Amino acid sequence: MPDQWPDHFDIEKSPEADLFFGFIQQGMESLKALDEKRAKWARQNLPADYELTYIFHEHAERVARDVENTALYLGLGDIVARNLYWAMLPHDIGKALLPVNIWDTIEKPDGHLKQLRRSHTDLGVQYTAPRLPEDHPFTALMLDIMQSHHENMDGSGFHGTKGEHLSLPVRLACIVESFDGYRIRRPHFGSRDISTAGVLERMRHEKGADFYDMDLFEAFASMKQQASTQQETTQTTAKG
Ligand SMILES: [Fe+2]
Ligand SMILES: [Fe+2]
Repeated sequence: MPDQWPDHFDIEKSPEADLFFGFIQQGMESLKALDEKRAKWARQNLPADYELTYIFHEHAERVARDVENTALYLGLGDIVARNLYWAMLPHDIGKALLPVNIWDTIEKPDGHLKQLRRSHTDLGVQYTAPRLPEDHPFTALMLDIMQSHHENMDGSGFHGTKGEHLSLPVRLACIVESFDGYRIRRPHFGSRDISTAGVLERMRHEKGADFYDMDLFEAFASMKQQASTQQETTQTTAKG
């Protein structure tokens, strides 16, 4: 298990950079194609007022930026931040290997459907591993995140892996993944507060250390709060 922040290589300067970026780009295109198929499927099969809010390729870009910005906020440096950004981006490409009709449901999914959706982690790893250089540290980082971005510290996540076996990059990935999921309104959310502050509060108090590495969580929360304050200030200034 890679237990350090990835500071011993720079993916953008790696001799294999083209290979990795080509792979990631292709993965992102297949996710985008899945999003387009979902939109069409939803139009044909779901009530006219159903809004497709959780767009996978947009989610991927947001969480990759969040991981990068948290690394910078922690003072881990540009190289670590960049390596984490690129490793996070393709974390959900396994979704493109699953049927189009399992993602958009009115009710919160359970049973078989839930299991099928959850298999995007393993499917992604099975697809990715044979296509990238086995002994490259970036391959290891990317596969680590792909496999374990839905785990919880107490072992209640997708694979039941406990915090002691989750690397720091994975722990951070799990936090940003969880945050982004809560920020997007979905039919089963009801009237829940999905503002940045509301979601951070919910994560801190309802999930807390059972789910997250709280040192990383608080760094992430400060970074997000700072960014949303800056955004509000910019908006106010622009209006003023
Ligand atoms: Fe995922
Ligand atoms: Fe995700």
